[in-house]
Amino acid sequence: EKDGYDWFMLKEIAEQPHAIADTLLGRLSDHGAIVLDEVRISDQEVRDIDKVFVVSCGTSYHAGLIAKYAIEHWTRIPVEVELASEFRYRDPVLDRSTLVVVISQSGETMDTLMAMRHAKEQRARVLAICNTNGSTIPRESDAVLYTRAGPEVAVASTKGFLSQVVACYLVGLFLAQVRGIKYADEVAAIVDELRALPAAVEKVLSEMEPVRELARSLADSPTILFLGRHVGYPVALEGALKLKELAYIHAEGFAAGELKHGPIALIGEGTPVVVVAPSPRGRESVHGKVVSNIQEVRARGARTIVIAEEGDDDVLPYADHVIRVPRTPTLLAPVVTTIPMQVLACEIADTRGLDVDQPRNLAKSVTVE
Ligand code: F6R
Repeated sequence: EKDGYDWFMLKEIAEQPHAIADTLLGRLSDHGAIVLDEVRISDQEVRDIDKVFVVSCGTSYHAGLIAKYAIEHWTRIPVEVELASEFRYRDPVLDRSTLVVVISQSGETMDTLMAMRHAKEQRARVLAICNTNGSTIPRESDAVLYTRAGPEVAVASTKGFLSQVVACYLVGLFLAQVRGIKYADEVAAIVDELRALPAAVEKVLSEMEPVRELARSLADSPTILFLGRHVGYPVALEGALKLKELAYIHAEGFAAGELKHGPIALIGEGTPVVVVAPSPRGRESVHGKVVSNIQEVRARGARTIVIAEEGDDDVLPYADHVIRVPRTPTLLAPVVTTIPMQVLACEIADTRGLDVDQPRNLAKSVTVE
């Protein structure tokens, strides 16, 4: 039951610290190693991997996009991310040394299942990241890493998504560990940061009241745009998807650097633009570029809503609203920056009087192609 929450979605958003902690449980050793005994792929097979595909749909596809940044950075293996419904119709190059990671909360999504069968026919190794024990996708895959989010009842995925993202980090770190790690110090530090994620998520959740208030003021917007760069880009896509599916408001997510190549023409007086600001620290910081992007859209009349790290004051001159998230290493930031997106969409839909848990035209698991 809903435990006093108005919607299952709100309950599931609140359960995210647990979902993440449970997904990490027993998989990080005291010595900073990744322990994935259940992933039955031999060390030799892991060393032979020369390419990774991540294949999934919808929100799970966004988890895959985040996985690409992490896996490529930690392992130096090339990673391609593809929508399951496109993957098998274009004759992808697959062989024994390809690892195909399929991500599915339900484990029953037909597009993902068919893509996986295609990959297996081509002799690729298939690792499933799945939240549903014994469902079809993990049953047919070579190996499985279960997310432990617990059952998701709301149609829109929330705790399922964040636990997928965390599972993707585990896969990336595991591959790096077996193959030898280029950034050994960084990886050791990341393991500690993973352990800190449930508390960081708890903190974000405790500060969502201003976001709810803001959401109520956005409920009549005809369109809302979302911008991000690097791992903030998939978060922007996820924010837009959540808003479309729950609030039936037109929304689009863009890579902030693409604005000037066309989408900036959409911005008029008062257009709400939600921007995911990256951490001002970090090796390849794109922070300054995003600050310029915020400035550009503001100059064209946008109402800017900026999700920024605590202490990042560079965004203040150009932000109409700032939503704070705790300091987090760049690659892990989506775990905290996604939460305001979920809350915005949920609250906007609720303000519009819609059924948050059962949006029109959608089903929890999509078992047709
Ligand atoms: C969006 C949403 C869908 C699913 C997609 C894949 O909130 O829930 O986009 O993410 O249908 O579902 P799974 O992960 O079950 O394969």
